Amino acid sequence: MKEEIKNKYNKLKNILEKNLDKSIKIIYPESIYESMRYSLLAGGKRLRGVMAIETALIFGAEISEIIPAACAIEMLHCQSLIHDDLPCMDNDDYRRGKLSNHKVFGESIATLAGDALLSYAPMFIIDKTPKSITAETIIKVLREFFIAAGVDGIISGQIVDIDSEKKKISKDTLNFIYEYKTAKLFKLAVRTGALIANADNEKLNAITDFAQKYGYAFQIYDDILDVTSTLEQLGKTPGKDLTAEKSTYVSMYGLNEAKQKALFLCSEAYDILNSKGINSDILKGIVSDVSEGIEKCC
Ligand code: IPE
Ligand code: IPE
Ligand code: MG
Ligand code: MG
Ligand code: MG
Repeated sequence: MKEEIKNKYNKLKNILEKNLDKSIKIIYPESIYESMRYSLLAGGKRLRGVMAIETALIFGAEISEIIPAACAIEMLHCQSLIHDDLPCMDNDDYRRGKLSNHKVFGESIATLAGDALLSYAPMFIIDKTPKSITAETIIKVLREFFIAAGVDGIISGQIVDIDSEKKKISKDTLNFIYEYKTAKLFKLAVRTGALIANADNEKLNAITDFAQKYGYAFQIYDDILDVTSTLEQLGKTPGKDLTAEKSTYVSMYGLNEAKQKALFLCSEAYDILNSKGINSDILKGIVSDVSEGIEKCC
């Protein structure tokens, strides 16, 4: 994304970081709070949180109205990463350029830190969202959150991802994995922003379609990076998908087709923003980071 848009993105990201830092204090029993903070504040691009904020802003909400829910979405994302790295899942020793949560705190605390973040997040929305947002809207936001976090979201995506190791799977199964483990969280981010801003159904549907295309492209890009990047660039161990014999767009269709598919999805995501009059430099910049990244890496 262009320098000027990157600066705007970073402003929102910094606000999010400050609020995440304040969101969890270390009290007794310290180990669980330390473990939660270790992963929550370990960096990361903060894409989902920024997308939630930006969507709320372009649809007319105040930033203070979306911050608690944006933090909660980053907590959920962080939980999914802590659990994804566990030895019983993808078994990765590194995340965001640091040792994974379980490598520092042990598997028991890491598992519980994930659980803790997952329940802390919706509580944070309830406790911290300003009174200008109605209880009815908060219930809608929470419902979306629980769908994305649960068996109708990440959990089923992760199950089918793990079940599909060392197997030949159908295109429908691959689509299921991408939709559930990745796209649903991006859809949650933009839908939360739209709901907080009380956007109409037309806007809600358009931004959901955008996140669907983007989420799919994002996961293909992540799979491409797994085979083309280094530990330093990624902050997580490369080559993991090959070692685990994961079913990914790259392993099933090859690098070139994966690249073409992700670029096509990026252009579709971009077109949705333009054709539906969703005027956001930041959302467009987020899409171009993926398409430019793909062009550069392979
Ligand atoms: C990693 O997501 C998990 C996937 C869905 C591939 P990100 O690449 O957004 O992770 P962070 O938050 O920047 O570390
Ligand atoms: C990530 O898929 C999906 C979730 C964490 C829910 P990956 O397993 O490919 O993510 P990374 O590559 O470990 O970040
Ligand atoms: Mg995984
Ligand atoms: Mg993984
Ligand atoms: Mg990956």
